[in-house]
Amino acid sequence: MSYPPRRAKPELALITGAAGGVGSATARRLAEGGAKLVVTDINEERLAKVASDTGALAVPADGSDREAIHALVARAVEELGGLDTVIATQGAAIGGGANPKHVDSYHRALDVNLHGCFYLAGEVLPHLAASEGSLVLFASTAGLIAGPPGAAGYTAAKAAIIGLTRWLARDYGPKGVRVNAVCPGFVRTALAEGSMAHLAEREGISLEEAYALSAAHVPLRRVAEPEEIAACCAFLASGDASMVTGHVLVADGGGAAVDASTVAFDG
Ligand SMILES: NC(=O)c1ccc[n+]([C@@H]2O[C@H](COP(=O)([O-])OP(=O)(O)OC[C@H]3O[C@@H](n4cnc5c(N)ncnc54)[C@H](O)[C@@H]3O)[C@@H](O)[C@H]2O)c1
Repeated sequence: MSYPPRRAKPELALITGAAGGVGSATARRLAEGGAKLVVTDINEERLAKVASDTGALAVPADGSDREAIHALVARAVEELGGLDTVIATQGAAIGGGANPKHVDSYHRALDVNLHGCFYLAGEVLPHLAASEGSLVLFASTAGLIAGPPGAAGYTAAKAAIIGLTRWLARDYGPKGVRVNAVCPGFVRTALAEGSMAHLAEREGISLEEAYALSAAHVPLRRVAEPEEIAACCAFLASGDASMVTGHVLVADGGGAAVDASTVAFDG
């Protein structure tokens, strides 16, 4: 990317997983900044609502299907007349351990959380090179340190997203494209709520108490709101981040900075 950057903020953006908590907050944030948007998700009904709230074009698609992603990107480029920002929030906490019975769910976790991003990157990068644009992928603290119990595939996929981000940044930097990843800890969305519901049931506590329990040793003592993660995306996709590429922005209230063996010393 040249300096000064070609644009201060996203103008022509594609957001995946846009029916979800983080994706919809990101769509609202970019729309407020004046971006023209195409939004996609497998959940047509919730996607339609996000599109009508933000003025975006909704293109529902299965983001783990290579052909569907090819058609999606072609439609987005036709609609917007190009692409300068792609934010790939699509993800799903597909459970399963290291167990022969969980091989199918392991593969599905990789398809949704990793392979879909790889297919997407291959389709959008030539357009981002033409605009000196930026790609933001979604990892998780599960990709930095071990994810929760029963999350073998999710953890492996999110760790691989970090590797893919750095590799794409290296490969596409000379073409003027920046590629970064956001690494949230728990965010108050449907995805986190699945884990919290499980914890609440096991401990016989409310959902709110489960959120508080999960954050008990996180330095900021709370989970993130989707808008806080959308703000990270907006920064990474903006001209303010013109020298930032291959970066993994950890937005977890400090959770991954804590050595688990020291939590017993917390006051
Ligand atoms: N919420 C958290 O606690 C948390 C923590 C760390 C990382 N993340 C990551 O943040 C990103 C956003 O998650 P979120 O919290 O907004 O969850 P969410 O469940 O609210 O949103 C995820 C969206 O992805 C969509 N999706 C799933 N499979 C799809 C497919 N095959 N094709 C198209 N769309 C599909 C879902 O329909 C959903 O709308 C994800 O990549 C997630 O892994 C979330």
